Amino acid sequence: MIVTQSTTRIVVLTALVLVVVAFVSVAAAAEAEPPAAPPVSQFAPAEDLVGQVKYYLKRLEQAVETEDDYKDFIERIAKDTDTLAVIALALGLHDTDNAYKAAASEIIQATQQLAAAKDYATAKVAVENVKKAATAKTADASNIKWEKVASLKQLMLAVPPINTQLKRNIKLRRPKRDGPKAAGRAAVIAVIGQAALYHSDDTEKPELAEKWYDYCFHMRDAAAEANAAARRTDKAAVPAAMEKLAKSCDDCHTVFHQEALGKEDVEEEDD
Ligand code: HEC
Repeated sequence: MIVTQSTTRIVVLTALVLVVVAFVSVAAAAEAEPPAAPPVSQFAPAEDLVGQVKYYLKRLEQAVETEDDYKDFIERIAKDTDTLAVIALALGLHDTDNAYKAAASEIIQATQQLAAAKDYATAKVAVENVKKAATAKTADASNIKWEKVASLKQLMLAVPPINTQLKRNIKLRRPKRDGPKAAGRAAVIAVIGQAALYHSDDTEKPELAEKWYDYCFHMRDAAAEANAAARRTDKAAVPAAMEKLAKSCDDCHTVFHQEALGKEDVEEEDD
């Protein structure tokens, strides 16, 4: 009798513990959702991102002009495609009305097809479709939200050349020309920082999601500071912003991807 009672008690207790564990894990999973994004204008002005959509569309078009171009640019296409996807997402969700707001979800879908293209003919058609998608004027942007729309690896591989160009442009030697270029590069890095938030489960340490979010914010907000300095052509404000940005790369890589340390700059053959 006593044995049966205590057995029953153990079973009941075990069940209770299981229920509690289940609740706690659901709560933990909910907690692991990235914090809500601020209005996009706070880190990447629509005007700068619109300029970057044009820039990437042109680069993609050039990269598939001939089959030889395609072979030469195959890695750049992969990076540009994913970069364009997150820029489109930011413009679709932007609090400032812009030329690509309505087209955003179609652009994202088209970039995903381009990312999957494995040969020249398919890639060529896919680039045409991305360009066509960018002209959409009536699509419903209400179905888009911050979420994973690209590959973290491609986004990260895209950053060093943008970062290197940013460092050059943000010297603001010819402010009228360099200011908008630097602002455009910085806006894209800020958007990549924001987009990376949704990739904590793609890292080697998904359990450190909270830390991941912090580093993503550092990257986004430092790039936003650089963007603002470039837009004001405020040379005095540049060094502090750029130091914060470089530190964000290093701090995150130290915890999440040590292999990237020292690979944070790269020159690209064109511009
Ligand atoms: C929030 C964390 C985080 C921040 C901030 C960050 N990175 Fe990364 N980076 C990663 C992770 C994780 C990877 C590995 C991605 C993969 O391969 O799946 C990576 C990979 C890279 C790689 C590829 C290295 C290799 O393995 O060959 C480069 C290059 C890179 N990052 C550059 C940068 C630059 C430049 C910055 C700052 C402007 C930056 N990253 C900011 C997390 C971060």
